[in-house]
Amino acid sequence: MSEYVKVARLCEIPEGTSKTVWVNQRAVGLFNVEGTIYAISDACPHEGVSLASGGDLDGPVVTCGYHFWAFDVRTGESADGMDECVETYDVRIDGGDVFIVPPKPFPGASRGEAV
Ligand code: FES
Repeated sequence: MSEYVKVARLCEIPEGTSKTVWVNQRAVGLFNVEGTIYAISDACPHEGVSLASGGDLDGPVVTCGYHFWAFDVRTGESADGMDECVETYDVRIDGGDVFIVPPKPFPGASRGEAV
């Protein structure tokens, strides 16, 4: 489990809610869909706003609060037939903690830690 990093406590993300965390200086959205946690890039591919903090989660679909692009948090794919998608990250739950395989830092960025 060494490639995984702890990013949150499971109790911080009740069912039907989401949370933004930062790993390697990148925003990751955590979503609780019927008790399963999914992790995706938290930057909407349209204009980069937070999907987890400003979007609306309905089942497995998060809809951006700005211009309503929608993504399936289970796959990262568009939920409305567009070509755009968001990165997904593997999730593990252990002892009430949420771990993910973190996104790689942007080139040239110093290596950050989960916050
Ligand atoms: S910023 Fe998300 S749809 Fe425009």
